[in-house]
Amino acid sequence: MTPIATLQQQLSRLAEAAEAAERGGGADRLAAQHAKGKLSARERLLLLLDEGSFVELDRFVTARGAGDGPVVYGDGVVTGHGRIHGRTVYVFSQDFTVFGGSLSEAHAAKICKVMDLALKTGAPMIGLNDSGGARIQEGVVSLGGYADIFLRNTLASGVIPQLSAILGPCAGGAVYSPAITDFIFMVRGTSYMFVTGPNVVKTVTHEDVTMEQLGGAATHAGTSGVAHFADDSEPACLARIRDLLRYVPSNNVDDPPRGPGTDPRDRRDEGLLAVIPDHPARPYDMHEVIRRVVDDGAFFEVQGEYAPNILVGFAHLGGHSVGIVANQPAVLAGVLDIDASLKAARFVRFCDCFNIPLVTFEDVPGFLPGVAQEHGGIIKHGAKLLYAYCEATVPKLTVITRKAYGGAYDVMSSKHIRGDFNVAWPSAEIAVMGPKGAVEILYRKEIAEAPDPAAALEARVAEYTERFANPYVAAARGYVDDVIDPRDTRPRLIGALDALQGKRDRNPPRKHGNLPL
Ligand code: HXC
Repeated sequence: MTPIATLQQQLSRLAEAAEAAERGGGADRLAAQHAKGKLSARERLLLLLDEGSFVELDRFVTARGAGDGPVVYGDGVVTGHGRIHGRTVYVFSQDFTVFGGSLSEAHAAKICKVMDLALKTGAPMIGLNDSGGARIQEGVVSLGGYADIFLRNTLASGVIPQLSAILGPCAGGAVYSPAITDFIFMVRGTSYMFVTGPNVVKTVTHEDVTMEQLGGAATHAGTSGVAHFADDSEPACLARIRDLLRYVPSNNVDDPPRGPGTDPRDRRDEGLLAVIPDHPARPYDMHEVIRRVVDDGAFFEVQGEYAPNILVGFAHLGGHSVGIVANQPAVLAGVLDIDASLKAARFVRFCDCFNIPLVTFEDVPGFLPGVAQEHGGIIKHGAKLLYAYCEATVPKLTVITRKAYGGAYDVMSSKHIRGDFNVAWPSAEIAVMGPKGAVEILYRKEIAEAPDPAAALEARVAEYTERFANPYVAAARGYVDDVIDPRDTRPRLIGALDALQGKRDRNPPRKHGNLPL
């Protein structure tokens, strides 16, 4: 009969196994990982989570499937929970040193287990992705594992925030888990995402492209809009994930975390008087308006490199967490195009899912005209932003700083689509279109036949501007609640956020709406 191990023997076996689990794929593969400028799965978790808070689950799980490889504890992914700013989060961190971080049946089951716990407990789920994709040796079982994750991503959408960092390869169908999550973070030079890599692209379309060009951080943050953030290093990327959670609640029934609220609530800002240029066609930077209004000038911008004609991001206002959407007159005059509509629509829906009030700064000349935009579907894409604002039931506050023209006036959180607090600066121009365009349509014949057409045009433009391009026609109807001194923007917004704290609004019961996709 085999003697029962002594307590000492049991403990040393545990210590050996724990050490093996910590080792992952071994010293050589770890060195190779570091040589690529990448951290290990565990080093990443140390940086991401509050010190000493990580609790690992399933560290002794091994691969279940076929393959002659060595038995490795953990099977290529480190999972568990920890804290960020004292709040619980669930995490998985793929270990590229073990089978290239590839996803096997057991690896997927570990991820699903923490996703289920995150959903049950109402805690954010953070995935650190660094993987060669489906574990080739396991075939369809591995594909099934991906589908198990996709389903959970979808069911958790709008219930808990889901964040994905891409810290190495993420290719093929594997991209679709991050794509369903709320925010994607990438690192320049070491992370990439694509459905098919450069070799397949070359075979199919004969295009020569590098991995970085095809699916690097710059491509996805600036061109495709797939990624929301691109950083120069992994520590910076992980710090940014922590920062985002300063604004976002743990789940859809929690209130968002409050900011420190040390910036005086009644602070007026003299500089706001100088922001709007004398000439209506001249640009200005809406960042400046935002920075002057929000707490401590801190604007956590999302997708800053994509569709820069609209700005979206988080801030605190009098300690309230808010989602800001702002037309950017410094880029394409702040016009709404396909990319801007998509960017803002997704952000508005995120804020609405998670009880984050929306503050809209509006200066928009309308939707972008052109064949490319029409053929690209500006109708259906612009409708997404309209739909997102219409369905949002969080407090909605709007400040019209200058232009609110045409359909874009309706779209940008107008009173008519349940805006709660809509104000305009005295410089606001709220009209069907700009004065020159309007006059050219209304008085084309008269101007053409005038002895001095230029003077006639100018006179009609002045008349139209006086009559329509101001905020008082809208204010007379109650379409804006007030015309305010720009210097009072911050205290007025904070006062409105306080007053709207108890807002309760709901949409008709239904399975779900049919967002124009
Ligand atoms: C099993 C894998 C693997 C995989 C890499 N490895 N990918 N093992 N399944 N998918 C192993 C390698 O054998 C190697 O093992 C170690 O991981 C590191 O890989 P290297 O190739 O040495 O690393 P590197 O040169 O950095 O190249 C990384 C890579 C490359 C670009 C990711 O490994 C690669 O192309 N892998 C295959 C990618 C792929 O085609 N995956 C399937 C995609 S389809 P050793 O023992 O030598 O260290 C897919 C479908 C998902 O994922 C569908 C969802 C619906």
